[in-house]
Amino acid sequence: MRSITYYGEPVLREIATKVEDINEEIVALIEEMAVSMEENNGIGLAAPQVGVSKTLFITHAPNDKLRVFINPEILSTSPETCLYEEGCLSVPGVYGKVKRSEKISIQAYDQRGKVFKLDADGMLARVIQHEYDHLKGKLFIDYLPEKKVAKIIKKLQNQK
Ligand code: NI
Repeated sequence: MRSITYYGEPVLREIATKVEDINEEIVALIEEMAVSMEENNGIGLAAPQVGVSKTLFITHAPNDKLRVFINPEILSTSPETCLYEEGCLSVPGVYGKVKRSEKISIQAYDQRGKVFKLDADGMLARVIQHEYDHLKGKLFIDYLPEKKVAKIIKKLQNQK
């Protein structure tokens, strides 16, 4: 299990770098991330959220299996969007509605180094977009209205 990095830690704002080799170390990292995600009742977790600035994330959306995305690339997003409340293990206690594409198409490598393409919709599409953002140093609160974000930041600072 790896400990979660929280809002304010610089790694969450970094642009993650590519995984050059899907080796034992990466597989071990994924396994530890999966434990951290399940322990915290998360439905997605990106490597920067455990302090590793690498382009990989995992998802476990409701009614779906555990999925691994290494060096992911979103190939297309639908023009149709939907609004839904999100949260993030790195921004505890904060929720807000975020507009995301309803459907996406993504390509990535799995933990065996095999490339795959996936078309996703519903909650899985949302989680993927949220986790993909983490690899670019972006957080879901960046989409919320400025006033709300100011309040959130105050609240998070008081938690410390
Ligand atoms: Ni998150």
